[in-house]
This record gives sequence, C-alpha cells and structure tokens, in this order.
Amino acid sequence: MAEAHDGTSGETAGKAVAPQQDHSAPPPAVAVVRADRIPNPGFPPERLRVTDLDPKKAKHAERTISLLFFLSVIGSVLAVVAYILFPIDDQDPSTIRLNNMLIGVGITLGLLGIGIGAVHWSKALMHGHEQVEERHPTRGSDESRERAVEIFREANAESGFTRRTLVRNSLIGAVVATPIPAIALFRDLAPAEDPVALLKHTMWDTGVRLTRDPSGTPIKASEVTIGSAFHVIPEGLAELESHRLEEKAKAAVLLMRLPIDELNEREDRAGWSYDGIVAYSKICTHVGCPVALYEQQTHHLLCPCHQSQFDVANHCAVIFGPAARPLPQLPITVDEEGYLVAQSDFTEPVGPSFWERAL
Ligand code: FES
Repeated sequence: MAEAHDGTSGETAGKAVAPQQDHSAPPPAVAVVRADRIPNPGFPPERLRVTDLDPKKAKHAERTISLLFFLSVIGSVLAVVAYILFPIDDQDPSTIRLNNMLIGVGITLGLLGIGIGAVHWSKALMHGHEQVEERHPTRGSDESRERAVEIFREANAESGFTRRTLVRNSLIGAVVATPIPAIALFRDLAPAEDPVALLKHTMWDTGVRLTRDPSGTPIKASEVTIGSAFHVIPEGLAELESHRLEEKAKAAVLLMRLPIDELNEREDRAGWSYDGIVAYSKICTHVGCPVALYEQQTHHLLCPCHQSQFDVANHCAVIFGPAARPLPQLPITVDEEGYLVAQSDFTEPVGPSFWERAL
C-alpha cells in the first residue's frame, strides 16, 4: 500500500485531504493588539472648579484673562515705541543696551501676556472634561518581526553578500568612494583667494576709459544727455583672452546723468562725478543680479530679481528691498579728449555681502 505524501495511510490517501490550519493564530505580518493585563480604571469623576460653581469667580477669572491680554498689547506697543524713541547710535554703545533691553521687555510682555492668558483661560473657563485618545501599539507582532528577519536572511542567501567577500568588499569601497568627488566640488566653491581682495579689485584703474557694453566703444561726456543711462564695461575687456566673463561680472557699471541740482553727493566723494554724470556698480548688493532698470524721472535703479531699489540722486542708497548696502560708486572724470575715464578702481568690494567683508 502506497504511502501518501503527508504520511497518511492508503485508506485516506485516495481522498482529497485539506491541510490543517490553525485558525486561532493571526496571519503573518498582521499587528496583534493584545488586551491589557491590568484593567483600565478609567478617569476619576470630574471635579468641578470654583469657576464652575461660582459665577462671581468665573467673572473674576474672565477679567484676569482680559487684563493679561491687554498687558500683551501694551508690551507689543512698548516694543515699537522703544524702537522709535531709543534708536541705536553707532558711536554710543550704551544705546544698544537700552534699545535691546526695552524692545526685549516689550516683546516679552507681549508674548507672556498672550501665553499666560491663554493657559489661564483654558484652565479656569474652558470646559474641563478629560478625553481619551486611543492609540494602538506601534510594535509589530512577533510573527511579523520574525518574518522581517527571515526576509533579510533570504536576501543575504540569494545575493551571496556574506559569502562572496570580494564582491561585498569592492561594493563597500565603491560606496565609500562615491562622495569623494562631492567634497572636491564643494571645496572648489570656496574662493581660492581672499574674497575682499578678489572682489575689491576689478579691471577699473586710473585712466581706464568707460566703454559701451558690448561694443566696447568709448563714451564722451558730451554724449551722455540728462536722463540717459549707459551699460558700461572697462576699455580692453572685450580683448581679454581669459576670465573675460569673471572680469565683466565684477566690473559692469551703470552710467547716468542727472541735473546737477538734483544730485546729492557725499562730502567724502566730492569730485567722483563729472558734470552730473555718475557711475555705479551694476552688481546688486543683495545677491548679485544685474541692476538694469533705470527710472529717469525718480532717478531710481531697480533690481529685477527681488525689487531692491537704489536712489541714484543720493549715492545709490537702498530705498526699498532686501539689499543691505548702496551700490559701490566708481570715481570718474574725463581725459584730455573728453572721454569718460575712471579715477581709480572701486574703493570697496562689489556685489553681495559676505562674512569676511569689513565694510
Ligand atoms: S539680487 Fe537684487 S534684489 Fe536680490
């Protein structure tokens, strides 16, 4: 008599026998929520607060909360008033302390008033019943954890990760080596030289003519009419064999002519302009976009990237937007033939601010 595969005798082997299943066990990879061993005693009965029992106390709590919120308003206003009435004087360090202290007190009062008032409101007046938020345990069942380990073992056996040591070790080497080019690339982003020297020195120098961008033709002062604006590059830039774009990115300049009576020049820059003609770096002091839009009626320059505005009539001071510094001015004059020339290089680094910048 032949034996069936499952070891049953020949009498049962001729019939289809369904495999035995343990219906009490959960299917694998299903989280099992077990009953608590200790019964949940629940919450004690709600204890009413004095504000629940006595309307006068509730009214008093309401007034206290309102008072705290009003204190918050006073603190916020105080911070603004302190900012206006006690400005920081660069020459007097004691003004920094007073300014910071009063603004700090105001803001602290403003935040504490709201915070304490809100907590007191919730504790004293809002409904005080407690609620239970049901949560399921996040730990997987023993079955699913065993299955996870089993999957790792199977993957290891199928891939031969521990058996084929040559493949494994060369893979580890490749993974370790992959980020190395990134280190080199990021290192390359840092300036190789002192950034102050790098950005302060451009192609501009004493006697270098101002020329049109991109043709490179020199500009006579007589060609610059009131209200006009020129995009300017230094003479010789077009002939540069190498680093032409880098040099242009530092030396690009905007040239404008204003009525002399509308031009307010700084005392320390007297003589940097010529007959109402002024030249300023075209590189925005925010993050370095070209400031290319000139509004001739208001004498404002607009940077199209983030809308910083500079007032040309007032040494390109920032009048709007995120830029922190005025555009650097290029001192100019004319040569014996009437062409506009630089008196010197810029006297400060051009472009956005950076940590090492001293000015
Ligand atoms: S780059 Fe000019 S405003 Fe941002």
